[in-house]
Order: sequence, then C-alpha cells, then structure tokens
Amino acid sequence: MEELQNKLNQIDMSRLPRHVAIIMDGNGRWAKLRGEDRCMGHVEGVNSVRKATELSSDLGIDYLTLYAFSTENWNRPQQEVDALMHLIGMAIERETPDLIKNNVHLNLIGALDRMPKEAYDRLRRCELATAHCTGLTMTLALSYSSRWEIVEAVKKIAASVKSGKISETDIDDNIFAQYLATCDMPDPDLLIRTGGDNRISNYLLWQIAYSELYFTRTLWPDFGKAEYADAIIEYQQRERRYGKTSEQVQQES
Ligand code: FPP
Repeated sequence: MEELQNKLNQIDMSRLPRHVAIIMDGNGRWAKLRGEDRCMGHVEGVNSVRKATELSSDLGIDYLTLYAFSTENWNRPQQEVDALMHLIGMAIERETPDLIKNNVHLNLIGALDRMPKEAYDRLRRCELATAHCTGLTMTLALSYSSRWEIVEAVKKIAASVKSGKISETDIDDNIFAQYLATCDMPDPDLLIRTGGDNRISNYLLWQIAYSELYFTRTLWPDFGKAEYADAIIEYQQRERRYGKTSEQVQQES
C-alpha cells in the first residue's frame, strides 16, 4: 500500500496520458506456472482489468482501451474461446453497477457480430447502461484486429466516395481516422504490453503512430496498480518529439 502511494506521489498529474491502450498478455503462462488451466489466468486477469480501470478513473485518465480478444484469438481451442466469451460477458455484467458508480462509460469496438449472443447481449446492456457516464471511457477491443478495422474503413470510404458524400481529393489523415472504430477518441499516448513480448499484434496500428510504447515482462494477472503507476512514471520521463528536434520541443514548452 505504502509502495503504491510512493509511486502515485511520483506521478505528475499535469502530464497524464489522456489515452492509455493495453495489450493484456500472459494470462495462460500465469496459470501454467501454477499448474492451473489457462482459463484460471483469464479469471485472474479480470482482477487486473478492474485495477487498471480503477486507477485510470482515479487519476482522471480519459480513455483506457483494452485488447480483450483479437480476431486471431478465434483460432484458439473452442473450449478456451467459449470460456473467455462467457467470462468477459459475466464480468462486465457483474461490474456494471460499479462502472456506473465510478462514472465509467463502456465502449465496444471490433467485429461484434462474431460474438456469441449471450456475451454480446451482456456487453451491449452495459454499454447502454453506462452511456450517460462522463468520466473514463473504457473501450474493449473484442474480435478486433487493426487490419480488419483499416479494411472496414477503406470499404466505408469507398462507399462515401461512390455516393458523393466525400470526394477522393478530400481523403487525408483526418478523414481516414473518422472512418475508424476509434473515431471519437484521441490517439493513445501510451501503449502498454504485458507478458514479455515486444510486438504490437495487430492492435491500433494506425492510432499508435506517435504513442509511447511500454513493454513489461510482468504477466497480466500480476499487473496491479503499482505496475501501472510504473508505466505512467516512465511515460512521463520520455520526450515526445513528433518528428521535431529536441531543441524545438523544449522551446515550445
Ligand atoms: C492474453 O493472454 C489474454 C487474452 C487473450 C484475454 C484477455 C482477457 C482478459 C484478461 C479478460 C478480460 C475481461 C474483461 C472484463 C475485459 P494469453 O492467454 O495469450 O496468455 P499467454 O501468452 O501466457 O498464453
């Protein structure tokens, strides 16, 4: 507790990331290390989701975007897919009153039409029940992959050009971003990946063009508030240059 407080004291509240995205990896290995079934790792991972949501909300971070299930995850053993879908739906249903109490708005992105109806209905109910909440926006990327999202955007843009809504010459970075599932959000300032792998795995490829990347070996079920605070502290030590020189950035600030 004291260790967490020491870390929280090191966070500069005037320079918080506005949007944090997380690749929650390592649940399976966490369970295996304990001789348990992989699904136990996912169950434990839900506690880390709660901790990350709580800390984001308490600090006043505006957006938290969690990679909960990728397009590629559909290829896992059916039993694990079923268990994960059930777990995510149940957890969200259970947490809905707390989300409302903490003014957290649930947002869903991904090919949700592929989700089993039971889990989808639970998630949609929470999305509707928290639609009025104005604090943290917690986005779950479900049945999501960045290439899927980009291809969908291209299809929608092609349709808009065809119908005359926009012309081909209107298309630029800003227009393109408006056709992505994340159109209502700023790009992530900080992308965290737990579990020890240093890759992006088809997550928010367009949106992370200038995000700070933070990779940690900590497995997701072990990623608590202190570990999250570490990531924010490191983020605040980085200089974000957006292609400019260090001297330019320092002059501007
Ligand atoms: C990756 O670990 C994790 C997932 C594919 C699922 C993440 C989902 C949760 C933590 C539950 C989310 C719940 C809510 C309410 C959003 P892995 O299985 O790939 O682990 P491994 O790399 O050790 O095998």
